Amino acid sequence: MIITKLLFLLFSFCFFATHILYLRFMNSFTSLSRQFEERFCVRHFPEEPGTLYDPAQYILGLGGKRVRPVCVLMGNELFGEIDPDAWQVATAIELFHNFTLVHDDIMDKAPLRRGMETVHHKYGESKALLAGDVMLVIAYDYLNRVKPAIAGRIIQVFNKSSREVCEGQQLDMDFESRDLVSMKDYLHMITLKTSVLLATSLKLGAILGGAGEGNQNHLYEFGKNLGIAFQIQDDYLDAFGDPDKFGKKTGGDILANKKTFLIIHALETATTSQHNELRELLNSNPFDKVEKVLKIYKDCKVDQWAKALKDKYLQTALQHLEDTAVLSLRKKPLMELAAYLISRES
Ligand code: IPE
Ligand code: IPE
Ligand code: MG
Ligand code: MG
Ligand code: MG
Repeated sequence: MIITKLLFLLFSFCFFATHILYLRFMNSFTSLSRQFEERFCVRHFPEEPGTLYDPAQYILGLGGKRVRPVCVLMGNELFGEIDPDAWQVATAIELFHNFTLVHDDIMDKAPLRRGMETVHHKYGESKALLAGDVMLVIAYDYLNRVKPAIAGRIIQVFNKSSREVCEGQQLDMDFESRDLVSMKDYLHMITLKTSVLLATSLKLGAILGGAGEGNQNHLYEFGKNLGIAFQIQDDYLDAFGDPDKFGKKTGGDILANKKTFLIIHALETATTSQHNELRELLNSNPFDKVEKVLKIYKDCKVDQWAKALKDKYLQTALQHLEDTAVLSLRKKPLMELAAYLISRES
């Protein structure tokens, strides 16, 4: 009897000691993004023809927060040591993300990205289109390096979210010329264009970590809700961000008549005269359009309301993280990531 008890105590001690030791070595966001950057900063393309590959390498060299690849790594590390395949998937995801940015900047007529000239401004639209295309192709080369037993599933999940990103991007553009866009439409659109990729990055990491279906889904939902809060912050920064920190041209969404939560909420809460002015501004392009719209946003307290909206999605995200069946201490890096993403300034 005493021996059984002693064995049980010894077993428990070893179990917790291993966990605590392991937890000490779990990576933070900063550490994972540094490690990813070290691997990612190589040239991903042949030298020739430089007219095709240099524009692609140019955007990758401008940096960025590397949030999605880190999500792959964190989603993986939540369930154990980082699988070598996670680095391949993380690289593919970041290449895919950069492909979407290059094409997005053409669609949004954006002059600045990561504080520098956008690819189409620097090299022209045709080259930017092809640079984006080739990044997508190279992303699949990385996915093809994943062990065959799991590659099919990884590519299936990746493709689903890639198709959804395209759907979201098309809705985003359709909404530019639509008068009536509801908050529900907006949330659906940003879920597709932005949050599914964050969710998928975490899920891919979880699949590589051998997580069960339930945990994969909770992590996906964590990423999806966090992604919504992330895009809300992006839309907020597009209007109210500090241009020196944001790295993109502020006011771009206003000029393009993007239907963000800012305009939707302002139209819902404005006085009749503000409402009429906003409608008129949506149908014209005066030189002071951005200032005028911003003034109405401020009068309608849209900036304050943004915080409540972000918090709502953050709380739902955190609930899913809590429901993920792993030791709570292991979730700390993801909680830190969530806090960082919704308060970011760039
Ligand atoms: C920009 O994404 C596109 C959006 C979905 C808002 P990020 O803000 O993650 O861009 P980088 O990679 O850090 O530059
Ligand atoms: C873009 O959304 C989302 C994708 C690139 C798929 P935005 O158009 O708001 O992104 P930014 O603000 O240009 O980075
Ligand atoms: Mg866009
Ligand atoms: Mg854009
Ligand atoms: Mg934006």
